[in-house]
Amino acid sequence: MEKYEIKSEVCIFQDSELSAEDLEIVNLAKEATKNSYSPYSQFKVGAALRLANGTIVTGSNQENASYPLGLCAERTAIFHAQHMYPDQPIVALAIAAYANGHFHPEPISPCGACRQVMLEVEDRYKRPMRVLLYGASGTHVVSSVKSLLPFQFVNESLTK
Ligand code: THU
Repeated sequence: MEKYEIKSEVCIFQDSELSAEDLEIVNLAKEATKNSYSPYSQFKVGAALRLANGTIVTGSNQENASYPLGLCAERTAIFHAQHMYPDQPIVALAIAAYANGHFHPEPISPCGACRQVMLEVEDRYKRPMRVLLYGASGTHVVSSVKSLLPFQFVNESLTK
């Protein structure tokens, strides 16, 4: 038997320790929770991403009476950004969640479907995307989606 370990590095920042650029998208992700349409879960998620040219695009989760049709905040923001600015890599994405009258104390982790979509962004632009997971107790930052999804299925996997 062979065995290997996979490690992911996560850095936790307080607001005062974040760069101005990162703090800006964290705050915009928090702000974006206000536009969440989540009458079914009451769980408001906001996302804010920065493109290589500095443009910021935000999104929030959008639910539906036919539950599976709803879309997460991350994918709402990513798909809109890629539609509007198809030639711009996404360099950072911040996520925040608000429920029961307060921001989650611990960061929420993107769902598996969003991780796969986020991975495609890195693969498409051949550039890592930093992910900032806001929690009231601190923002957890990974330098690449690969830290959140260590086994990757990407375009190249189809041709091997
Ligand atoms: N949700 C997101 O928007 N992003 C996540 O990372 C996790 C979950 C949404 C989907 C649904 O509208 C609600 O949160 C509850 O699952």
